[in-house]
Amino acid sequence: MKFIIDTEENIAKKAAQRYVELLSRNPDAVLGFATGSTPLGLYAELARLCGEGKVSFRDVTSFNLDEYAGLDGSHDQSYRYFMNHNLFEHIDIDVSRTHVPSGLDIAAAEAYDKAIEEAGGIELQLLGIGNNGHIGFNEPGTPLDSITHLVDLTEMTRKANARFFTSLDEVPTQAVTMGIKTVMNARSIMLMALGKGKADIVKASFTGPVTTLVPASILQLHPSVEIYLDYDAASLL
Ligand code: GLP
Repeated sequence: MKFIIDTEENIAKKAAQRYVELLSRNPDAVLGFATGSTPLGLYAELARLCGEGKVSFRDVTSFNLDEYAGLDGSHDQSYRYFMNHNLFEHIDIDVSRTHVPSGLDIAAAEAYDKAIEEAGGIELQLLGIGNNGHIGFNEPGTPLDSITHLVDLTEMTRKANARFFTSLDEVPTQAVTMGIKTVMNARSIMLMALGKGKADIVKASFTGPVTTLVPASILQLHPSVEIYLDYDAASLL
């Protein structure tokens, strides 16, 4: 694991450079994207760089980590909507080659890993981290061999994500997420965490034991992982 620790602004810039380098070498790379507030700075930076012609996503295929069950892609809290509005509409990606698990057709989850494999496998998977160490929506206890599947969200996760909805009642109780195995199959992984609120879980995940009870700790077993942290998220390391 390699740690990149800097200010929030520089973290976004350095993470964006990782995409510039990768796509200059491999313009048709398969990318795994994430949602949440953490990647917003990175996405804004990618949009800026793309606008300036410094990076192109024209030949990229993408797969997102997860989606809320029950939300259609036009719902403003769906992760499809998030991706369209925060990234895809601001870069030159072909939206027909972007994939987000369906929140409505749950049975389609079974085919998601196959589609990733057929596209050539994910070159670079971006991750955030939940307060309980979840990656994607893989909550504590998710088996190592899990592929894309339907999950029940913990109360902690629903409460943490309620800030984006008008009330806790509106936060879906389930989601479709890539599994731990799906994530670990990516050739490289980039995890980002920002703020003091993530310091404890960052410490537990990357300096503590590898355990399914802290899903992000499993990344310690992956051969190519970069952890991008601001000074606050790294403060307990
Ligand atoms: C959600 C997403 C995760 C994300 C997490 C953290 O639960 N499913 O992929 O990492 O939120 O979000 P934030 O970046 O807003 O802290």
